[in-house]
Amino acid sequence: MRCSGLIARTSAQLHLHSIKRSFATSSFLRRAFQDGDVVLLKDKKAASHEGVLVKLQAAKQTHTHRGNLAHADIIGKEPRQLVHSTRGNAYRIHEPTLAEYVRLTPRLVTPIYPSDANLIVSLLDLHVETPSESPNGNSPVEILEAGTGHGALTLHLARAIHAANPRLPKLQNYTSEQEAEDPVYLGESMADLQDANIETWRANRGAIVHTLDISGKHSKHARKIVEGFRHGMYAGSVDFHVGDPASWITEQLKVRKTEDPFLSHVLLDLPGADSYLDVVASALQVNGLLAVFNPSITQIVECVEKIRKDRMPYLLDQVVELGASTIREWDVRAVRPRATLRKAELKDTPDSSSGDEPIDPVKGQEARDNELARDLAKNEEKWAMVCRPKAGLEVVGGGFIALWRKMEPANLSESPEASPAPAATEEA
Ligand SMILES: C[S@@+](CC[C@H](N)C(=O)[O-])C[C@H]1O[C@@H](n2cnc3c(N)ncnc32)[C@H](O)[C@@H]1O
Repeated sequence: MRCSGLIARTSAQLHLHSIKRSFATSSFLRRAFQDGDVVLLKDKKAASHEGVLVKLQAAKQTHTHRGNLAHADIIGKEPRQLVHSTRGNAYRIHEPTLAEYVRLTPRLVTPIYPSDANLIVSLLDLHVETPSESPNGNSPVEILEAGTGHGALTLHLARAIHAANPRLPKLQNYTSEQEAEDPVYLGESMADLQDANIETWRANRGAIVHTLDISGKHSKHARKIVEGFRHGMYAGSVDFHVGDPASWITEQLKVRKTEDPFLSHVLLDLPGADSYLDVVASALQVNGLLAVFNPSITQIVECVEKIRKDRMPYLLDQVVELGASTIREWDVRAVRPRATLRKAELKDTPDSSSGDEPIDPVKGQEARDNELARDLAKNEEKWAMVCRPKAGLEVVGGGFIALWRKMEPANLSESPEASPAPAATEEA
């Protein structure tokens, strides 16, 4: 049975009404920016400038410390073209990647960082069928993410399963004011028919991410984040819920009128994950995966201990430390010694900072830039390459993820967690 009854219906439907174009990579490569797009503007002169995200609104301007940028000047341009501020500074316009979008959107809570989110999605080993491959009547793949937070992992999960869902039906954009004048067809208004189309579409999805947060505020914010990425191209694959895993699962089983587990994957990113292991076991399919993400290994140990003590039907697959293998961004570019030398001479002022001040990674990098420029200048006119890890961009994220497979309760004795601890031995 498919789930749709618990969703804030009007909001989800209104959002789906607004998706009119394709936002897949194939359509985006040479697409002129339009009103309503979110773009990333990067200062052309500052290689380490992370950029700013801007939602384009034709009548608006974005203020920067190097002048104002009129959105109307950006609309119509293609990715990588330049736009100039009122003070003549050039900014390159980019289509933000998912990682850039997650990193630069305003946040209420700390998200799982893109490199960690990618690894988690990969560990979950998600493989979906396209709608044409999936035989009619197959139950959808349903994933529960508890701890929606910023919606960062939600977006990564949705990206992984999105291809399982059929294309959205073609819809007219009806607003509530227009509804009074809707043409009526066989006793139903067009808006009602469209709502019905969306409900049918939702019921035919091949894969759904259910994302759950105890905080209505976080959930609302995360919904905006998900809907803001490429005009919400992944939003239809996500159902947002407010509550905790115990109440949500109990309610779902009641609504579905069955005791049958319906989730293939569960990801817990919330405090006290160990207190939900039991209820999750009742909703997770046999061989389904439970992943627990925690910043501290001791919290993972608590889960392992609880599973052993309460003889829960889980088999520990693996425990992985995230963020341990540093993914470092490098600065690789060709420079002209003369120009860099002039810049270095300008910046070559005595260091006024006292030894007691904390090290500022960005200032430290500037000092090293100056040294490098002086070295390169010795090579006169030749182009030279700068190749080094970017400084000032911290390695962020990290934590631990543990993965368990759900077992048939009958096979519990096979689980090493359930077997008695070996007798302690001492070396002579
Ligand atoms: C660190 S954030 C999750 C970040 C998220 N995974 C992301 O990638 O953006 C943890 C979230 O768990 C939520 N939370 C805390 N306790 C919870 C509970 N018992 N049930 C559901 N959500 C809970 C918090 O409100 C918070 O939004």
